[in-house]
Amino acid sequence: MKIEGKNYKTIWFEDNKVKIIDQTKLPHKFLIKELKTCDDVVVAIKGMEVRGAPLIGATAAYGLVLSLIENDDLDFLKKSSEYLINSRPTAINLKWAVDRMMKKLLVAEKNEILNLAITEAKNICDEDEKFCNEIGLNGLTLIEEIYKKKNKTVNILTHCNAGWLATINWGTATSPIYHAHKKGIPVHVWVDETRPRNQGANLTSFELNEEGINNTIIADNTGGILMQRGEVDMCIVGTDRTLSNGDVCNKIGTYLKALAAYDNNIPFYVALPSSTIDWMLKDHKQIPIEERNSEELSHLEGFDAQGEIKKIQIYPKKSKSLNLAFDVTPAKYVTKLITEKGICDSSSEGLNNLFK
Ligand code: MRU
Repeated sequence: MKIEGKNYKTIWFEDNKVKIIDQTKLPHKFLIKELKTCDDVVVAIKGMEVRGAPLIGATAAYGLVLSLIENDDLDFLKKSSEYLINSRPTAINLKWAVDRMMKKLLVAEKNEILNLAITEAKNICDEDEKFCNEIGLNGLTLIEEIYKKKNKTVNILTHCNAGWLATINWGTATSPIYHAHKKGIPVHVWVDETRPRNQGANLTSFELNEEGINNTIIADNTGGILMQRGEVDMCIVGTDRTLSNGDVCNKIGTYLKALAAYDNNIPFYVALPSSTIDWMLKDHKQIPIEERNSEELSHLEGFDAQGEIKKIQIYPKKSKSLNLAFDVTPAKYVTKLITEKGICDSSSEGLNNLFK
């Protein structure tokens, strides 16, 4: 998708290096960063220079490529794979991508292992881009239905950034919106700010602006009243891990939005590629919920008038704070799942019918 009118993807491989857009600097600075080692990749994932479940997976896949370039010893590769899987705990795409790579690499001949790794990492990226496009075409039908009924701008609420910046291209939650816009359907997006890291304000609103899509940033607690006032037609969010029973783990605050949508009879959709489905875990209480540094809550970071990054403390110095990064929305509050294979109920039956 576009930044300043030029098309980009979020990650690419060039001259034996991985190139990423450093998302910690957006929307104020557009900076392309080079990752040269597996360590660089782990730092980029932990520090959220790259983030969003599908992009974390793709970056980890390239982390294994960089590990092989550094040292093509299999023990080193295995250590790298563990190191990558542990860099962030919640998004299942990370483990999914590393496992997919390792399955190929552990049985490869030494003279072909690097080329195989490069090809497989690229396949993961290409597949994600294709799936996100398909999610968009499937989700478009839901926006069209609402537009046919009301014949006025469709108001869509989204939380966090499940946009193209969180994937390779298109995004998951944003893909139906981009497709609707391309088709000429008038859409307006309510963008949850998404404290504490503000992925909604910094990334979703930014990418929608760059594509010319009408959007308004709201504080995270505003969605409820907008729903009561009839100003939200539908919600679409992404997910970091969806269990086979349809329970959805996503950015902290998603659950409260789903409850408000349920109470107001507003459809609450979750868009995801199959790489985000965890077929193994049976109970959402087993999902490792990332707890991040409480400084992300107690301090605010931004750019001053000179373009310098400034960090200021906003909480009382003596106060404790708890920074849980994700929550779980039980399946019963999810109207439908939008996947690359189609739209289904958020249930074992729904997912099994599409994927097994
Ligand atoms: O902590 P983040 O920014 O990586 O969290 C991102 C989200 O919660 C997204 O909604 C999710 O990863 C889906 S991205 C298509």
